[in-house]
Amino acid sequence: MPLCSGSSKNWRRMSERWFFALWPDLAVSRSLAELRPVLHYPKARWSHPLDLHLTLAFLGELTPAELACAEAAAGRVSASAFPVSVDTLGVFRRSRVLWCGPSQASTGLLDLVERLQSQLTLCGFEPEGRPYRAHLTLARGVSQPPPPVPFFGATWVARDFALACGRPRQSPRYEIRRRWGLAESDWAD
Ligand code: 2AM
Repeated sequence: MPLCSGSSKNWRRMSERWFFALWPDLAVSRSLAELRPVLHYPKARWSHPLDLHLTLAFLGELTPAELACAEAAAGRVSASAFPVSVDTLGVFRRSRVLWCGPSQASTGLLDLVERLQSQLTLCGFEPEGRPYRAHLTLARGVSQPPPPVPFFGATWVARDFALACGRPRQSPRYEIRRRWGLAESDWAD
Protein backbone atom coordinates (compact mmCIF):
# COMPACT_ATOMS: atom_id res chain seq x y z
CA MET A 1 0.00 0.00 0.00
CA PRO A 2 1.39 3.40 -0.85
CA LEU A 3 2.54 5.51 2.06
CA CYS A 4 0.09 8.35 1.50
CA SER A 5 -2.91 6.16 0.92
CA GLY A 6 -5.39 8.21 2.88
CA SER A 7 -7.22 4.93 3.32
CA SER A 8 -9.44 4.76 6.36
CA LYS A 9 -8.85 1.00 6.70
CA ASN A 10 -5.39 1.27 8.21
CA TRP A 11 -5.83 4.76 9.52
CA ARG A 12 -4.69 4.32 13.11
CA ARG A 13 -1.85 1.97 12.25
CA MET A 14 -0.35 4.26 9.62
CA SER A 15 -0.34 7.44 11.75
CA GLU A 16 0.81 9.57 8.85
CA ARG A 17 1.84 13.19 9.39
CA TRP A 18 0.66 15.47 6.65
CA PHE A 19 1.93 18.78 5.35
CA PHE A 20 1.85 21.03 2.32
CA ALA A 21 5.22 21.81 0.77
CA LEU A 22 7.18 22.90 -2.27
CA TRP A 23 9.42 20.25 -3.77
CA PRO A 24 12.53 21.49 -5.60
CA ASP A 25 13.35 19.99 -8.95
CA LEU A 26 15.77 17.08 -9.06
CA ALA A 27 18.78 19.17 -10.11
CA VAL A 28 18.35 21.39 -7.05
CA SER A 29 17.87 18.41 -4.69
CA ARG A 30 21.02 16.84 -6.07
CA SER A 31 23.06 20.00 -5.72
CA LEU A 32 21.90 20.45 -2.12
CA ALA A 33 22.76 16.82 -1.38
CA GLU A 34 26.31 17.61 -2.50
CA LEU A 35 26.71 19.72 0.63
CA ARG A 36 26.96 16.53 2.67
CA PRO A 37 30.67 15.77 2.13
CA VAL A 38 31.51 19.46 2.23
CA LEU A 39 29.92 20.24 5.58
CA HIS A 40 31.26 17.17 7.37
CA TYR A 41 28.93 16.51 10.28
CA PRO A 42 29.86 12.91 11.09
CA LYS A 43 26.93 12.29 13.43
CA ALA A 44 24.24 14.05 11.42
CA ARG A 45 21.27 12.19 9.94
CA TRP A 46 21.08 13.57 6.42
CA SER A 47 17.81 13.90 4.56
CA HIS A 48 17.36 11.67 1.54
CA PRO A 49 17.73 13.96 -1.52
CA LEU A 50 14.17 13.08 -2.60
CA ASP A 51 12.90 14.20 0.81
CA LEU A 52 14.16 17.76 0.51
CA HIS A 53 11.19 20.12 0.60
CA LEU A 54 10.10 23.51 1.86
CA THR A 55 7.07 23.21 4.13
CA LEU A 56 4.21 25.66 3.60
CA ALA A 57 1.86 24.38 6.29
CA PHE A 58 2.16 21.49 8.73
CA LEU A 59 -1.07 19.60 9.50
CA GLY A 60 -0.01 16.52 11.50
CA GLU A 61 -2.16 13.39 11.73
CA LEU A 62 -5.47 13.65 9.90
CA THR A 63 -8.76 11.83 9.89
CA PRO A 64 -10.13 10.95 6.44
CA ALA A 65 -12.58 13.86 6.73
CA GLU A 66 -9.79 16.29 7.61
CA LEU A 67 -7.69 15.00 4.72
CA ALA A 68 -10.59 15.53 2.32
CA CYS A 69 -11.12 19.04 3.67
CA ALA A 70 -7.40 19.87 3.33
CA GLU A 71 -7.43 18.68 -0.31
CA ALA A 72 -10.52 20.73 -1.08
CA ALA A 73 -8.90 23.74 0.59
CA ALA A 74 -5.79 23.37 -1.57
CA GLY A 75 -7.98 23.19 -4.66
CA ARG A 76 -9.40 26.62 -3.86
CA VAL A 77 -5.98 28.28 -3.61
CA SER A 78 -5.23 30.57 -6.50
CA ALA A 79 -1.63 31.81 -6.65
CA SER A 80 1.09 32.36 -9.22
CA ALA A 81 4.33 30.53 -9.90
CA PHE A 82 7.40 32.17 -8.35
CA PRO A 83 11.13 31.55 -8.03
CA VAL A 84 12.54 30.13 -4.82
CA SER A 85 16.12 31.11 -4.08
CA VAL A 86 17.87 29.15 -1.40
CA ASP A 87 20.92 31.14 -0.40
CA THR A 88 21.47 30.64 3.34
CA LEU A 89 22.62 27.81 5.58
CA GLY A 90 21.80 27.68 9.27
CA VAL A 91 21.10 25.51 12.30
CA PHE A 92 17.96 25.54 14.45
CA ARG A 93 19.64 24.85 17.76
CA ARG A 94 16.58 23.66 19.65
CA SER A 95 15.51 21.07 17.06
CA ARG A 96 19.13 20.41 15.98
CA VAL A 97 18.18 20.88 12.35
CA LEU A 98 20.70 21.90 9.70
CA TRP A 99 18.73 23.84 7.12
CA CYS A 100 19.05 25.88 3.99
CA GLY A 101 16.56 28.45 2.85
CA PRO A 102 15.89 31.86 1.43
CA SER A 103 17.56 34.66 3.40
CA GLN A 104 14.31 36.51 2.86
CA ALA A 105 11.04 34.80 1.98
CA SER A 106 9.76 36.24 -1.32
CA THR A 107 6.37 37.86 -1.76
CA GLY A 108 5.33 34.93 -3.96
CA LEU A 109 6.11 32.43 -1.22
CA LEU A 110 4.49 34.41 1.57
CA ASP A 111 1.45 35.00 -0.61
CA LEU A 112 1.04 31.28 -1.23
CA VAL A 113 1.47 30.43 2.47
CA GLU A 114 -1.13 33.02 3.41
CA ARG A 115 -3.67 31.93 0.80
CA LEU A 116 -3.25 28.28 1.71
CA GLN A 117 -3.50 28.95 5.42
CA SER A 118 -6.62 31.03 5.06
CA GLN A 119 -8.31 28.14 3.20
CA LEU A 120 -7.05 25.63 5.78
CA THR A 121 -8.50 27.73 8.57
CA LEU A 122 -11.94 26.95 7.11
CA CYS A 123 -11.22 23.28 7.90
CA GLY A 124 -10.29 24.19 11.46
CA PHE A 125 -6.49 24.03 10.99
CA GLU A 126 -4.98 26.87 12.96
CA PRO A 127 -1.61 28.29 11.88
CA GLU A 128 1.33 27.18 13.98
CA GLY A 129 2.11 29.43 16.93
CA ARG A 130 5.76 29.80 15.96
CA PRO A 131 6.74 32.29 13.25
CA TYR A 132 6.97 30.89 9.73
CA ARG A 133 10.59 30.13 8.79
CA ALA A 134 10.93 28.96 5.20
CA HIS A 135 13.55 26.21 5.12
CA LEU A 136 14.56 22.81 3.77
CA THR A 137 15.86 20.39 6.38
CA LEU A 138 19.22 19.09 5.18
CA ALA A 139 20.11 17.03 8.24
CA ARG A 140 19.05 16.35 11.81
CA GLY A 141 21.14 15.88 14.91
CA VAL A 142 23.27 18.96 14.22
CA SER A 143 24.03 21.51 16.91
CA GLN A 144 27.15 23.27 15.63
CA PRO A 145 26.65 26.20 13.25
CA PRO A 146 27.67 25.46 9.68
CA PRO A 147 31.35 26.09 8.87
CA PRO A 148 31.99 29.04 6.54
CA VAL A 149 32.05 27.00 3.33
CA PRO A 150 31.24 28.65 0.02
CA PHE A 151 27.53 28.08 -0.56
CA PHE A 152 26.38 29.11 -3.99
CA GLY A 153 22.76 28.36 -3.28
CA ALA A 154 20.16 27.16 -5.71
CA THR A 155 17.06 28.50 -7.40
CA TRP A 156 14.03 26.80 -8.84
CA VAL A 157 10.65 27.99 -10.03
CA ALA A 158 7.78 26.75 -7.87
CA ARG A 159 5.12 25.80 -10.40
CA ASP A 160 3.08 23.69 -8.02
CA PHE A 161 2.69 22.78 -4.39
CA ALA A 162 2.15 19.36 -2.89
CA LEU A 163 0.35 17.57 -0.10
CA ALA A 164 2.68 14.97 1.37
CA CYS A 165 2.89 12.65 4.29
CA GLY A 166 5.69 10.89 6.07
CA ARG A 167 6.45 8.21 8.56
CA PRO A 168 9.50 7.80 10.76
CA ARG A 169 12.12 5.23 9.81
CA GLN A 170 11.29 5.18 6.08
CA SER A 171 13.76 6.33 3.45
CA PRO A 172 12.78 8.25 1.45
CA ARG A 173 10.55 9.32 4.30
CA TYR A 174 8.01 11.47 2.50
CA GLU A 175 5.56 10.68 -0.24
CA ILE A 176 3.62 13.15 -2.31
CA ARG A 177 -0.07 12.36 -2.45
CA ARG A 178 -1.18 15.14 -4.77
CA ARG A 179 0.00 18.37 -6.42
CA TRP A 180 -1.81 21.59 -7.31
CA GLY A 181 -0.53 23.85 -10.06
CA LEU A 182 0.31 27.53 -9.65
CA ALA A 183 -0.77 29.95 -12.36
CA GLU A 184 1.70 30.76 -15.10
CA SER A 185 3.52 33.99 -14.50
CA ASP A 186 6.53 35.77 -16.01
CA TRP A 187 8.66 33.41 -13.96
CA ALA A 188 7.20 30.31 -15.55
CA ASP A 189 8.88 30.94 -18.95
P1 2AM B 1 11.38 20.28 9.96
O1 2AM B 1 11.98 19.53 8.82
O2 2AM B 1 12.10 21.53 10.30
O3 2AM B 1 11.16 19.39 11.16
C1 2AM B 1 7.19 17.30 7.89
O4 2AM B 1 7.43 17.00 9.23
C2 2AM B 1 7.55 18.73 7.60
O5 2AM B 1 6.75 19.61 8.38
C3 2AM B 1 8.98 19.10 7.90
O6 2AM B 1 9.44 20.00 6.91
C4 2AM B 1 8.90 19.79 9.24
O7 2AM B 1 9.91 20.74 9.46
C5 2AM B 1 7.59 20.50 9.09
N1 2AM B 1 6.96 20.85 10.36
C6 2AM B 1 6.48 22.05 10.68
N2 2AM B 1 5.94 22.04 11.89
C7 2AM B 1 6.11 20.81 12.39
C8 2AM B 1 5.76 20.20 13.61
N3 2AM B 1 5.12 20.85 14.59
N4 2AM B 1 6.12 18.93 13.77
C9 2AM B 1 6.77 18.26 12.79
N5 2AM B 1 7.10 18.78 11.60
C10 2AM B 1 6.77 20.05 11.40
